[in-house]
Amino acid sequence: MATPTRESTASTARPEATAPTPPATVTLRLWRGDEAGGEFRDYTVENLGGEVVLDVVHRIQAEQAPDLAVRWNCKAGKCGSCSAEVNGRPRLMCMTRMSTLDVSEPVTVSPLRGNPIVRDLVTDVSYNYAVARRIPPFQPGPREPDGTYRMKQVDADRVQEFRKCIECFLCQNVCHVIRDHEDNKPNFAGPRYFARLAELEMHPLDVLDRRELISSDLGIGLCNITKCCTEVCPEGIHITDNAIIPLKERVVDARYDPIAWLGRKIRRRPDPTPAKVAASFAPAAKTGEVISTDAPTRAED
Ligand code: SF4
Ligand code: SF4
Ligand code: FES
Repeated sequence: MATPTRESTASTARPEATAPTPPATVTLRLWRGDEAGGEFRDYTVENLGGEVVLDVVHRIQAEQAPDLAVRWNCKAGKCGSCSAEVNGRPRLMCMTRMSTLDVSEPVTVSPLRGNPIVRDLVTDVSYNYAVARRIPPFQPGPREPDGTYRMKQVDADRVQEFRKCIECFLCQNVCHVIRDHEDNKPNFAGPRYFARLAELEMHPLDVLDRRELISSDLGIGLCNITKCCTEVCPEGIHITDNAIIPLKERVVDARYDPIAWLGRKIRRRPDPTPAKVAASFAPAAKTGEVISTDAPTRAED
């Protein structure tokens, strides 16, 4: 077999592919307005490359629109503040690279549609905090005889997934139960809080039974497992598969499984109705025994 010469390889080599030249400018089409109404406005800036959407929004704010309202904090995908809809898709602006978007056309950036507008890209997320206040917090049972709490590593791992939530509320925004039906909000917790409820209900040290609350007041039955919430979660939490579906199973068990019903009667777990929840906290609060979820518990096995 003939050894290829420098000349022969040169003549058969394919021409080097040249990367397409990025456009010199990028245009963001930003929603400007308040609760009374608004419109999209185009802002064109130099294309610096290597930027995320939030960088470009900040440059527009610095150079062309100093009155532009935008909420952000960490610029690292951890505070959950910079949620918006980029080309109609709920995203964190600080984690959305311009290089992943088609910048040959204007990139639209609009506020989360599921929330009331405050101004420009900032929305009112207080509905979520109202839901959070309705959820009874972690309540541990008695300590082991040696004064410790113990739980298996597998149980710690299971609830840890839900602790990754950064409260960006992208899942709440995309959930059709409340996105287009404001009247459902009082009766529906939404995916972020089903993840929180799953975290509490699956915690082996928690002794409250919130299943009636989840079913009757927080409306898990309205969720039809479309998985839209899971698809937009920037933390990759499997909200539907690991939180909502197990919660639905637990609620059904509570209502229709006679053996589970009898077991609960014998074990006498606290009733989840708000008055009884409050009462169940009273003695512990006196002795300082109630531990919030943020307090470290000792997990050994
Ligand atoms: S799976 Fe349920 S909670 Fe998630 S977006 Fe769909 S309806 Fe909403
Ligand atoms: S569950 Fe995911 S999408 Fe929903 S608020 Fe938490 S981090 Fe955001
Ligand atoms: S600025 Fe904190 S998540 Fe984007």
